[in-house]
Amino acid sequence: MSERHLYPFPVSVNEAVEYLHNGNVVAMPTETVYGLAGLARNDDAVLKIFETKGRPRFNPLIVHCADMDMAQKVAQFNPLALKIAEKFWPGPLTLVLPKKADANISDLVTAGLDTVAIRLPEHSIARKILQTLGHPVAAPSANPSGKLSPTMSQHVIDAFEQKVPVVDGGACEAGVESTILAVEGEQVTLLRPGSVTAEMVKHAIGASVAYPTGSKIVAPGMLKSHYAPNASVRLNAREPNIGEAFLGFGELQGEGDNCRNLSSTGDLAEAAKNLFQYLRELDGTGAATIAVAPIPNEGIGIAINDRLTRAAADRTS
Ligand code: TXA
Ligand code: MG
Repeated sequence: MSERHLYPFPVSVNEAVEYLHNGNVVAMPTETVYGLAGLARNDDAVLKIFETKGRPRFNPLIVHCADMDMAQKVAQFNPLALKIAEKFWPGPLTLVLPKKADANISDLVTAGLDTVAIRLPEHSIARKILQTLGHPVAAPSANPSGKLSPTMSQHVIDAFEQKVPVVDGGACEAGVESTILAVEGEQVTLLRPGSVTAEMVKHAIGASVAYPTGSKIVAPGMLKSHYAPNASVRLNAREPNIGEAFLGFGELQGEGDNCRNLSSTGDLAEAAKNLFQYLRELDGTGAATIAVAPIPNEGIGIAINDRLTRAAADRTS
């Protein structure tokens, strides 16, 4: 890989737009997690994203757009997809839709699929960058592949040692990656749970949401082991064993420096926002294992449990 110089921190929105325009990658805040953005139509920029993350090329990226006009140049929206977009965009939801033949998106973005994942972020900085640039950007989460997603600019700097320019937007509001829905005709399938829950979608469209059945559409990036801290993760723990760090929830507190509570009031949205930061902090204690309290499997808790299950998965298989 070519030498890259160190960037000052933070870079401004206008500097970020300039970098993107010239085919470089830039880390930008969104309401879910920080994204590693590159101009979606530029093969070299998209290659830099895959190289920087160490991401397998078969794993396609999400295309981020400023508005519906931009989005409709990239993907085909049927009435159902339009209805979902109107209800939840801009926001923490990604739609997998048929890609338009003249989408002008690098084939590397979609990993050769005839569908494209697309979203309109709500974060004011992401919107400003997209509006000023005037073109869609591909942006996976700005972390080395397989590691914890970044919810603060410092996480991106720590991961890439300032080899990537970063626009600072403080802590991300949602804290877990966007919900991913595939829309195929009248069929809506939940590919990744997030803070827009299946119930919210059901309510909005008045129809059911299916779950992937294995063989059909899957998000290729939903690998069993993902979002992994260095420590191993033990789930559904009521208390830590000796030497373990503890990630509590609600009344399950734990005591001492190697304990955190995702939300002492049992608020799942607060827990999602704290999830990756607290896993990082507990990882930083050097404990071999992080024990995690049970999280109610409802609402945003479903997305939290999805990420925790992947963090706890066997990494050798
Ligand atoms: O919140 C988010 O979605 C963040 C921010 C930066 O927008 N991005 C993010 O991207 O989480 P990433 O690359 O970490 O996850 C994208 C997921 C992967 O699991 C990928 O396989 C899936 O989207 N995906 C992308 N294109 C797809 C397609 N055409 N069909 C099915 N899944 C797709
Ligand atoms: Mg990711």
